Amino acid sequence: MTTTEAAALPAAAASSDASPPLQPAGSWPPGPKPGFTGWGLLRHMSKDLLGALRGWQQAHGDLVHLRMWPEHTIVVTDPALVRELLVRHHAALVRWERGIAVFSQLHGHSVLVAEGEAWRAKRHTLQPNFLPKPSAALVPAMAHSAANAMAAWQSGAWPVEQALTTLTMEVIARMVFSSDIAAEASAAAQALHDVSVAANGEFFWPFNPPRWLPSQRAKHRGMAFLDSLVERQIAARLQLARDAWPDDLLARLLALHAADPAAWPLRAVRDECMTTFLAGHETAAATMTWWMWCMAANPQAQQAARAEVVQCLAGRAPSAADIGALPYLNATLQETMRLYPAAPVLITRRATAPLTLGGWQFPARTLFTIPVQLMQHDARWFPEPQAFRPERFGAGAQTAPRGAHMPFGTGPRICLGQHLVMAEMTVIGAMMLQRFELTPLPGMAPPDPVMNVTLRPKAPLTLQLRTLEKAAM
Ligand code: HEM
Repeated sequence: MTTTEAAALPAAAASSDASPPLQPAGSWPPGPKPGFTGWGLLRHMSKDLLGALRGWQQAHGDLVHLRMWPEHTIVVTDPALVRELLVRHHAALVRWERGIAVFSQLHGHSVLVAEGEAWRAKRHTLQPNFLPKPSAALVPAMAHSAANAMAAWQSGAWPVEQALTTLTMEVIARMVFSSDIAAEASAAAQALHDVSVAANGEFFWPFNPPRWLPSQRAKHRGMAFLDSLVERQIAARLQLARDAWPDDLLARLLALHAADPAAWPLRAVRDECMTTFLAGHETAAATMTWWMWCMAANPQAQQAARAEVVQCLAGRAPSAADIGALPYLNATLQETMRLYPAAPVLITRRATAPLTLGGWQFPARTLFTIPVQLMQHDARWFPEPQAFRPERFGAGAQTAPRGAHMPFGTGPRICLGQHLVMAEMTVIGAMMLQRFELTPLPGMAPPDPVMNVTLRPKAPLTLQLRTLEKAAM
């Protein structure tokens, strides 16, 4: 399967290879006037983060200094500098503490939020479960879940997000718990929505709001529900005889716990299950929701993807071997992630030591923000950036510089689930094209993207679904 970072080879480096002249220590790149404290900039960002960052990039360039007392934040939108930061300077960076404080309320100390040696140990232990081969081994189970779900989808107005959230939750629940959680799917989706809406606001607060505030009720109800869902799965497994455990992520984590309870307490098992369960379905549901819209709004691309699927699969369900054999479908997924990256702004990083980037000498404690979406919508790398053109990712296409398209991030902290989710999205996409045709509802306007941790349509997306004749498969 093609992954994003591997696909985007440099045609021309975004920055020239020649080192830029070194700026004097203590100087900062240009940026908007901060006023007395710079907190006005923060207010601007909390209203429309991507709009504010886009305006400052246009005014000041690819390294923008935001002075918001007491912080110095640098917004980086040059693909080469982003790679230099996340790959070369990886060891001098940690995730932004405020982001961690928000995420750890639900994720505990999982690989998503851990730092230093604790992160390295977790990543090293988990990684083998997420490589291309074990991810591809899950394709038959994914196809089984998709076929079950799609059997219930009917011609007519179709609530896209609800259907896809249930399906992607089902897929990840099978991988983590070997369990069917269909009965709880809609309550879990609502819980996660409430927690995400709260989290999105909390990034701009200096602390987590106290739980007794009436405005916090939905968030805490949601957190309690998700906690109980994961903890019930663990408790049920522990009641089973060990030789009756299915081979899934929970069993592998519990084996680590049995071998070394100090390094892997049950709390750590719970944290990793929670992160995989949440990161594993929400991003996939968001991306597939946008893919459905892109297919509906671009009938020629939909037809070309269907023709490829019909020719390759001849009506059967996709197998692991087919995942790499559907290049046009893969290109439609990449182009969807370019236009609508599930994580439009990478978790901000803080420098733990001084570092030099683009000729500027940044002191320890500088914050760096990487708005992936701005780079992916940059006309320098993607001409007519708002147009849906899967051909950008086709063989022989003029490629954008490395780092200009990175919906999964880059460097050692690149998305752990990228191979798994590419396989999953290819399976769902192919099976969808085999069975249904998608069109926008009459008179429908393009959905408005909003950021609620992941990028989602502002109003729940509904499209027109038409079941295809069997002969079309
Ligand atoms: C289309 C779907 C997905 C997208 C767009 C996506 C995107 C991302 C991004 C941008 C990051 C942050 C990288 C960084 O901070 O540098 C990330 C991290 C992560 N993702 Fe994904 N992701 C997706 C699906 C998944 C799935 C299916 C799983 C698990 C099954 C997963 C698990 C993780 C984990 C555990 C991390 C943290 C890795 C670390 O810090 O070492 N993601 N993802």
